[in-house]
Amino acid sequence: MEIEFILDGQAVHCPEGFTVIGALFHLGRRVVRVTASTAAPRSLFCGMGVCCDCLMQINERTSVRACMTLVQPGMRIVSAQGAATTAYQV
Ligand code: FES
Repeated sequence: MEIEFILDGQAVHCPEGFTVIGALFHLGRRVVRVTASTAAPRSLFCGMGVCCDCLMQINERTSVRACMTLVQPGMRIVSAQGAATTAYQV
């Protein structure tokens, strides 16, 4: 079953049961945020909630780990820009 969610203001779809990072990869997207200091792209690194490379804004919450969050119907996901505001929201 397909789920519809909002990615950077655009309606997109992925199969049910995907994590946010899995859904992004499914859509062909690899970069989830850029760093504050050098605008270096970040993506999946550890895949298990340890490294913080996959932080995104999800449903108005900042610094949510895309690798640890399942996509839900209607979820609003925004690419993070710059420094994380809090490091340990899951
Ligand atoms: S990829 Fe390391 S915390 Fe998500």
